Amino acid sequence: MKGLILSGGKGTRLYPLTYTRAKQLIPVANKPVLFRVIEAIRDAGITDIGIVVGDTAEEVKAAVGRGGRWGIQVTYIHQEQPLGLAHAVKVSQDFLGDDPFVMFLGDNVIQGGITDLVRQFQESDWNAQIVLTRVDHPEQYGVAELNEEGQVVRLIEKPKDPPSDLALVGIYMFDHHIHQAVAEIKPSWRGELEITDAIQWLVDHGYKVYPYVHRGWWIDTGRPGDILEANSLVLEELEPVIEGYVDRDSEVDSRVTVEKGAEIINSVVRGPTIIGRRSRIVNSYIGPFTSIYHDVTIENSEIERSIVLEHSVIRDIPARIQDSLIGRNVTLNRSPMKPKAFKMNLGDYSQVGLL
Ligand code: DAU
Repeated sequence: MKGLILSGGKGTRLYPLTYTRAKQLIPVANKPVLFRVIEAIRDAGITDIGIVVGDTAEEVKAAVGRGGRWGIQVTYIHQEQPLGLAHAVKVSQDFLGDDPFVMFLGDNVIQGGITDLVRQFQESDWNAQIVLTRVDHPEQYGVAELNEEGQVVRLIEKPKDPPSDLALVGIYMFDHHIHQAVAEIKPSWRGELEITDAIQWLVDHGYKVYPYVHRGWWIDTGRPGDILEANSLVLEELEPVIEGYVDRDSEVDSRVTVEKGAEIINSVVRGPTIIGRRSRIVNSYIGPFTSIYHDVTIENSEIERSIVLEHSVIRDIPARIQDSLIGRNVTLNRSPMKPKAFKMNLGDYSQVGLL
């Protein structure tokens, strides 16, 4: 069995963060989403993993390498353009051969991993298995309709009038018949080769397609709100460890992780929260559901339910920062210079909510 991770695409909904970074590499609880996907596949016993890459190929390769650190072997597969999830399967045919495989979208975080799913598929004679979960807004996803026997009979991509509330989570099991399906379908109205159409082709040609209904949480980190939500959910499950320095004047509760080289000085940190390597928190308050990544400085400020990426500095901010996503090398401080005014230097598509 092989693994196929889709890490192409443009991430336009996450601008400006994804102007300069692959969306799959944005860290959730201080670990890139893509690493979490790799670990879920590896934990299910799969070590031969293909990663489909596009414009951000170099960055993904630099971060993941050949996979030795996870005990896996990574093959990179180039997709010239994000022409659809089924197109990604098409360009991966040489790598996949006739082996069964799990396909996992590189921007999805799922509770509990995929070990059960992989085992169930391996023990069955099914041709495909799709992970579904009940959602409040099925029209935003691929949606499945099941018959009385629980078999999948219909799939529709982002339907205006959804036939059920069962959304397709971005995880799919396939045997080699998917290659024929992918070869037979035509691009959709949005110009993409849709994986839902390929699976529908399997259903229509008598192949066995069954669901796996996922009951834990699942987050598609495609939008900023979703990343903060994913961050909160993953932080809740993190085993806290204090490997950095906490001075005697600080108050750090039992749900806080302080990574190596981090320093907490005269501050209050409430978990679940993680403070990354070599970051310094001085005279500040860090509230629950916050991930401070590596080499960040926070001084005389308060922040909660937020993510701050590497090498950013937050200093002397008079009001609490909340529900915020702050990118790399950002400086947020109080300016002593007159006139007394907000002075900003923001990239395209930045969003700032002032008091
Ligand atoms: O997240 C679940 C949803 O994912 C499903 O409910 C939908 O049925 C499925 O089509 C997909 O919808 P999205 O609109 O979320 O797909 P997105 O374009 O965001 O792509 C998902 C991932 O796959 C992302 O990591 C980028 C990568 N990708 C995407 C395309 C279209 C590729 O690597 N190549 C591609 O051609």
